[in-house]
Amino acid sequence: MLKTALVTGAARGIGLATTKLFLEAGWQVAMIDRDLPELDSSAADLEKAEHFACDVSIPDEVAATVAQVQKRFGRIDALVNNAGVADFGPIEETTFDRWRRVMSTNLDGVFLMSQETIPALKETKGAIVNIASISGLRASTLRVAYGTSKAAVIQLTKQQAAELGEYGIRCNCVCPGPVRTKLAMAVHSQEIIDAYHDAIPLNRYGTEREIAEVIVFLCSDKASYVTGQIVAADGGFESTGVGLPALRS
Ligand SMILES: NC(=O)c1ccc[n+]([C@@H]2O[C@H](COP(=O)([O-])OP(=O)(O)OC[C@H]3O[C@@H](n4cnc5c(N)ncnc54)[C@H](O)[C@@H]3O)[C@@H](O)[C@H]2O)c1
Repeated sequence: MLKTALVTGAARGIGLATTKLFLEAGWQVAMIDRDLPELDSSAADLEKAEHFACDVSIPDEVAATVAQVQKRFGRIDALVNNAGVADFGPIEETTFDRWRRVMSTNLDGVFLMSQETIPALKETKGAIVNIASISGLRASTLRVAYGTSKAAVIQLTKQQAAELGEYGIRCNCVCPGPVRTKLAMAVHSQEIIDAYHDAIPLNRYGTEREIAEVIVFLCSDKASYVTGQIVAADGGFESTGVGLPALRS
């Protein structure tokens, strides 16, 4: 029986690239997204993938969708909590509604999807990979909601690893650096793009595929003794301090 990965936010961007890489590696994939038209068109030519419309921030939808995935595939070997939203704004302009919109998908969604899939993951001794961000590792301006939600996902991953290890479930977190997806381009002004280039030793944005490679590795048996880890796929952003542009030749 083929292994099954459940990928949230799979209609585009990093989630779609992760779906394609799982399929290349011989897995089958349950693609979850709340944007049904985009999901329909992305999934259209993908064999061994099924798509399910679901908003990961709504408990009833999460429960019904995980049950449908179990019914369709009979097993879940990996959960990739990738669905996310970004909202950049100053603290004083971040209304409670904006704060909740970010938290409900980025944090509540990870909690809900993980909790719902635990029984299936116990059976397979499966893996959870949560997608946080370099904004959860290092603070910056305009990211009070987004950065805080992602820092919480990092801690949630460690909580999950501590508690679920005894069932053989591994839980890890990937923190992507900037990738030119719809999410990033909606909040990255030209100034922000230039600032990222300056602050990244590899001097460029990453690609969806480069992030997917790390995610699929952490879900695979090759990472069978890796749990509770926070892996930045960020061109060196997180490890670097001041002075980088000045030292470039
Ligand atoms: N692109 C970057 O620069 C970057 C950097 C760091 C972290 N990330 C993280 O990577 C993940 C993927 O981002 P992306 O850049 O591919 O974004 P994207 O906007 O291209 O894709 C995100 C997908 O998630 C779906 N989604 C959003 N909220 C949802 C919900 N409540 N329920 C179900 N689906 C939902 C969207 O419909 C969309 O298809 C996010 O968690 C994001 O925070 C992205």
